[in-house]
Order: sequence, then C-alpha cells, then structure tokens
Amino acid sequence: MKTQKLSRRRFLQGAAAAAAAPYVITSTALGQGEVPAASERVAIGHIGVGGQGSGLLGGFLHVPNSRSVAVCDPFKDRREGRAAMIDAHYKETSGKGCAAYRDFEELLARDDVDAVVIATTDHWHVPIGLAAVKAGKDVYIEKPLGLSIAQNQAMRAAVRRYGAVFQYGTQQRSFNVHCALACELVRNGYLGAVKEIRVGAPGAYQYGDGGSTTPIPVPDGFDYDRWLGPAPVTPYTADRCTSWGTYYHYDNSIGFIAGWGAHPLDIAHWGFPHTPVEYEGTGTIPEKLFNTIFTWNVKGRYADGTPFFFDSSNDNWTKFVGEEGTVTASRGWIKAEPESLLKVKIRPDEIHLLQTNHHYQGFIDCVKSRVDPVSVIESAVQSDIISHLGDIAIRTGRKIQWDPAKEQIVGDADAARRCSRPMRSPWRL
Ligand SMILES: NC(=O)c1ccc[n+]([C@@H]2O[C@H](COP(=O)([O-])OP(=O)(O)OC[C@H]3O[C@@H](n4cnc5c(N)ncnc54)[C@H](O)[C@@H]3O)[C@@H](O)[C@H]2O)c1
Repeated sequence: MKTQKLSRRRFLQGAAAAAAAPYVITSTALGQGEVPAASERVAIGHIGVGGQGSGLLGGFLHVPNSRSVAVCDPFKDRREGRAAMIDAHYKETSGKGCAAYRDFEELLARDDVDAVVIATTDHWHVPIGLAAVKAGKDVYIEKPLGLSIAQNQAMRAAVRRYGAVFQYGTQQRSFNVHCALACELVRNGYLGAVKEIRVGAPGAYQYGDGGSTTPIPVPDGFDYDRWLGPAPVTPYTADRCTSWGTYYHYDNSIGFIAGWGAHPLDIAHWGFPHTPVEYEGTGTIPEKLFNTIFTWNVKGRYADGTPFFFDSSNDNWTKFVGEEGTVTASRGWIKAEPESLLKVKIRPDEIHLLQTNHHYQGFIDCVKSRVDPVSVIESAVQSDIISHLGDIAIRTGRKIQWDPAKEQIVGDADAARRCSRPMRSPWRL
C-alpha cells in the first residue's frame, strides 16, 4: 500500500497528520446519527449523473464524513434533478445548495471541492480524471478506466505524480468480501500451484446487432457536442446516448469485454497479480450503430506458462484452478472444491488483502488518511490491459505478444498502434 503525498486540501491539514490507519473515521466509530462538522467532511462533485452516477450519488449521500456539493452533466434535466435531490436529502433551503454544471471545468475550478466521482460514459473517464487530479482533486472513477491502454497509463502516471487518492469502480472488492477470501486462498497457496485461470463476463447478447442509425434532432437541454467531447462527431440517433447504446459504440467504449469484464478480471488480478503475455481470440462484432465486441473467446498465457481463458458468459465469475483445489467467485456467490477451502481462516502471518466493507466509505476515509483505497490504480490498469489486449487480438485476428515490463505489444506494429486512440481536438492526453 502506498501512502499519498499530502494535498493542499483544507480539511486535511490537521486530520492527515494524525492519521496512522487508512480509516480515520469509520461509520461505526461515528455512531448512529452522528455527523462530522462541515469542516471535517469531504466535499464531493459528481461528474456524470446518468444511471450509475445517480446510484453512486445515492450511496455517497449516506457516507457520513462526505458531503455532495456539486453535480455535472450535459443533460440539463439530469444535473438539475440530481442537484435538487441532494438539496432535499440535506434539507437545504438557503438557496445556496448543490450547484449544477454543464461543464466539468467549472466544477473542477472550485477550491472547496475535494474529490470527484466520475461516472460518465467510458470515453470521458480519463480526460476528466486527468483534469481532476491536475486540479488537486481525489478521484473515484468508474470502470472501465480508459478507452485505450495509453489512456490508462496516462491516468496512472498522473495519479502518482499529483498524489491523488484513486478508487476504481470495482466495488466487488468491498461489497463482496468473499472475493477477497478467494484471492487470499490463491495468494497463500491453499490451492497449490495455480494451473489455470478462467474468467467469464456477460456478453451483449440482449441487444442483438441493433442500434438505430436514423439521425434525429438532439433533444432540448442536451449538449451533444459536450457529451461527445474527445469522440468523433457522429449523427445523433435514438440509441446514440442511452447508457446501453454508449456501452456498445466503439467511439465511446470497447464494449462489455471491458465494461463487464473489468469486474471479474479485477478479481483475477487481485488473486493472481500478473498480466498474461500472450492473447488470441475470436468474437462477434455487429456492423451497425453498435460496433463493439458482443461475444468473445480469448485465450492466452502468463509468463510462467499458466493458461488464461476469458469468455463471454451469462454471468460474471473468476475461477482459479490449482493443483490441490479450485475456487470460483462472483457477485453474491463463491464455491470451492474441496468445499473445506471456504472454512479456511487465513492466519495472521499470511497474506491479508485490504478489506473494507463499503467501497464509497472506504474511498472517503482514504481521502482523509491519504493512503490507497482497496481498488488501486495499478491494479485497475493491469486488469484493463487484459480486456484491451483481448479486444486487439480479436480485431486483428492475430496472436498478440505483450511485454509486461515495457508495457508494449511486441512484434506487431499494427497491433501496437491500437494501444492508443486519437482524440478529437482540442482534447488530448
Ligand atoms: N461499477 C459498476 O457496477 C457499474 C455499473 C453500471 C455502469 N458503470 C459504468 O458507469 C459509467 C456510466 O454508465 P451509465 O450506465 O450510468 O451510463 P449513462 O449514459 O446512464 O450515464 C453517463 C452520464 O455521463 C454523462 N456525461 C457524458 N459526458 C459528460 C461530461 N463531459 N461531463 C459530465 N457528464 C457527462 C452523460 O450525459 C450521462 O448522463 C460507465 O462507464 C459504466 O461502465 C459501472
């Protein structure tokens, strides 16, 4: 665990110095109904308040040592609606409540905002994340991280350079503590030598090859140009900016191979902290509005020869197969062979992974204590690299070799170029 540099943030000046542990104020320590003084609360801005951003907002409103003070979204009705919801939650009647912005730059320019929760469409995660850490904010960023491997690397460099606290939106690490147990069993050798790793994530089965391509007028109160930002300009259609539409458009996302894949790949990397060095695969890619990989079969191997399989599936799961046992973990369930593995108590002298039981509380506590939360940027980058390399292997139809030390594709110049993506001017990394 790395300790972050102290930031300039006003509320931390006293608190961080006193903080020896990652959790300075826990919800349990606060007690029922106790709310810290305003000066002790982390002020949050919410950037992107669609489906997931609104869910996160609802979660953060119940974190006692934070206060949501601003929202931002190119949809006027969404930003104003969420600002009103925040004011209602805090019973704010002074008229100086939550601010609603169309442009994230205005939100980031506020000195009194300590941290931002970024739940935009995928193609904005890193551009806004970079601007946020440069502005001195800590960041909770939804998965998947970047639209390219180069974006991921840029985000990691910026987080460490600016000493920002970063939490990735892989909430299974906190809300499904059995995932931590699965990973601790692997890391402490309870399965014996690891023989193979298998990962499954939902494909985009439910949408067929759909997506409307008929241009229609942009709705009133929606700034489509701002929504597109660094993405190419394309006609607005009925499916263009819905959440599911953006999950499946290659200008905005690489699809569920990363979007859903991020969760089980994250657990794979938590339990077996390496990145495969070889990838090949097949997949289906519709050629209408939706043009990301819908279904996939990727296989590869780690540097020590351990085979790796990553397939689209009806569920999400991570399966670690060892010489002496197997453990599979998902949201809400875990199974093992032999079952006795699930009764193992990891001894104090063994490897213990950081455990928090609340992903949002964990982030806020780390903003105060200046240590890394459970979902660190380095792990986010590595698990994302796996989905990007799977995507590149399928799109090129070739076997991809990855040098994990240099973090480069080797021996295939065309594939290596796919590690970065152009951005529409004036946006750049
Ligand atoms: N962790 C999870 O389990 C989980 C679950 C669902 C979605 N997600 C992720 O959350 C993100 C959002 O997904 P969603 O389903 O809420 O999509 P959504 O389309 O409903 O919401 C995205 C919002 O971002 C806004 N936005 C776009 N550009 C913006 C900008 N420049 N500034 C501010 N806001 C901007 C959009 O207008 C929209 O309201 C995606 O990256 C998705 O992968 C994570």
